[in-house]
Amino acid sequence: MSALLPSLLLPSQSMVLIPPVSVSYIHIMMRERKLSGRHIQLILGVLLGIFLLTHLKTPLVGQVVGGRCEGCEAILEYGDRKLTATDTLPEFAAHQDKMLISGTVFQKDGRTPAEGVIIYAYHTNKKGIYPTKGDERGWARRHGYLRGWVKTDSQGRYSFYTFKPASYPSRTEPAHVHLIVKEPDKNEYWIDSIEFEDDPLLTTNKRNQKRKRGGSGIIALSKGQNGHLLAQRDITLGKNIPNYQP
Ligand SMILES: [Fe+2]
Repeated sequence: MSALLPSLLLPSQSMVLIPPVSVSYIHIMMRERKLSGRHIQLILGVLLGIFLLTHLKTPLVGQVVGGRCEGCEAILEYGDRKLTATDTLPEFAAHQDKMLISGTVFQKDGRTPAEGVIIYAYHTNKKGIYPTKGDERGWARRHGYLRGWVKTDSQGRYSFYTFKPASYPSRTEPAHVHLIVKEPDKNEYWIDSIEFEDDPLLTTNKRNQKRKRGGSGIIALSKGQNGHLLAQRDITLGKNIPNYQP
């Protein structure tokens, strides 16, 4: 069995290295009558396990859709609230540059509205920091209290009432609103943050680096009749999302 151990440590190489090694190993051991039927069963079982782990399109463990996503589980931190298609983030009333983020969530085909999709949004304040009050729990300690949750309605629509955030004090990143989505039958994953077309920090280089996960997050703000800034961010589920299967 010792010949098999390296393959367990390096599963990505296993199917390249193991078959010839293990076949010759089994052959020699059988010839020398040192291998019982039970041993052969065990070896074949290990090989099958390695094959499944390295060749299945859908891994058996861990987060799959969208790849690694630190903090994405914050989308589940809405407690016992009953989510609707609209949420108002804290401090909305206190700010002058009120902003309505809204849009439609579509299935992967880009046309069919997606109902029941949870969207989690969080952003910085006017100083460019994720503010906390000191009593936060979970991811609120990192994301701050300027956050909200919605669940899309039967037509895939959602709305967040908030205000326009500022860029980090370092001025290294454009102002942005983080977005994470969760479909009923999939794990949560992040999509391109909302950023603003007229942001001087949104350089050509940064624009070119966008993955456009869920579609582009770069928004040209308009102004509503009530003076609110309007940010329309439609979302196409699975678009440019690794390991996504509708
Ligand atoms: Fe951020």
